[in-house]
Amino acid sequence: MAVRLDGAQREDLARAAAFLTAGELVAIPTETVYGLAATALDSVAVAKIFAAKERPSFDPLIVHVADVAAARALTSAWSDSAERLARTFWPGPLTLVLPKSNQIPDLVTSGLPSVALRIPNHPVALALLEAVGQPLAAPSANRFGRISPTTADHVDEQLGERIAATLDGGPCSVGVESTVLGWDPDPILLRPGGIPLEALEAVLGPILLPSEQTYQRHAPGRLPQHYAPRTPLLLNSNLVGPRIGLLAFQRSRPGFGQVEVLSGDLTEAAAQLFAALRRLDAAGLDAIVADAVPEIGLGRAIMDRLRRASHG
Ligand code: TXA
Ligand code: MG
Repeated sequence: MAVRLDGAQREDLARAAAFLTAGELVAIPTETVYGLAATALDSVAVAKIFAAKERPSFDPLIVHVADVAAARALTSAWSDSAERLARTFWPGPLTLVLPKSNQIPDLVTSGLPSVALRIPNHPVALALLEAVGQPLAAPSANRFGRISPTTADHVDEQLGERIAATLDGGPCSVGVESTVLGWDPDPILLRPGGIPLEALEAVLGPILLPSEQTYQRHAPGRLPQHYAPRTPLLLNSNLVGPRIGLLAFQRSRPGFGQVEVLSGDLTEAAAQLFAALRRLDAAGLDAIVADAVPEIGLGRAIMDRLRRASHG
């Protein structure tokens, strides 16, 4: 079982850094979800991420860095828009996809000429990046296709047997993954996430919303089905009954076997989403019905995750 380390303890942080430097895998807290980290420039270490997650090698990883200079150093072309976004939203839940430098192993980017970069906004992640002194590749610390972890316990349930350590930094404050932005050559939203589209548009102007096909071309790991509980999840269904679970927002509805009511505030609801889905999934129900929310602010990321979690 993974060694449990406490991100608030200096020695534990040093142990996490030592595991990473030795090429081992450590699950780390970020403000979005827990990540499964390895040093990004060591392809042998990176290969362990794919093995532990059972992640297909066509799905590229996000590289986490400590500051803007480190991000820029990993690209072959940094742009004015990248600079403006980085200055406005980093550290934070925004990932920028930019032309990669030769330093980055092909395994990290699944052979793509671009690399996904972000500075996480979590004191433990930042202290760890500082201690390791190298960029860290880290996808979400779940098995491929399953619900992303927002606590250290969630990580250990899915990956505890397969990794060296789990660094506990408490529950994630944002709760959904980062927003991924690329250029084609105009700005294009590759994944809605923790930074609302509206906030990005306030800085950049209009951003393209890709079709599902464009998603596949630009963000090959973004499968239509993802983030899925084992229990079938239905969006906006009329199904009701004692064997059915309900994921609702703001107010409940009668007639369900188990109910999770998330906040009506979509930012709060995003932070609660994955833990609630896990509780419903653990209840042994026949199906989970999820209500819809408006696609504004964090609502866009919530609906994206619910659609990908749903079984049609
Ligand atoms: O919030 C997050 O982003 C979390 C935390 C740990 O930072 N990480 C995360 O990583 O969600 P992951 O691997 O679950 O999702 C990364 C996604 C890929 O599936 C892909 O869609 C996109 O980022 N991506 C990565 N590299 C890319 C690239 N070069 N071009 C396009 N998309 C890329
Ligand atoms: Mg993921």
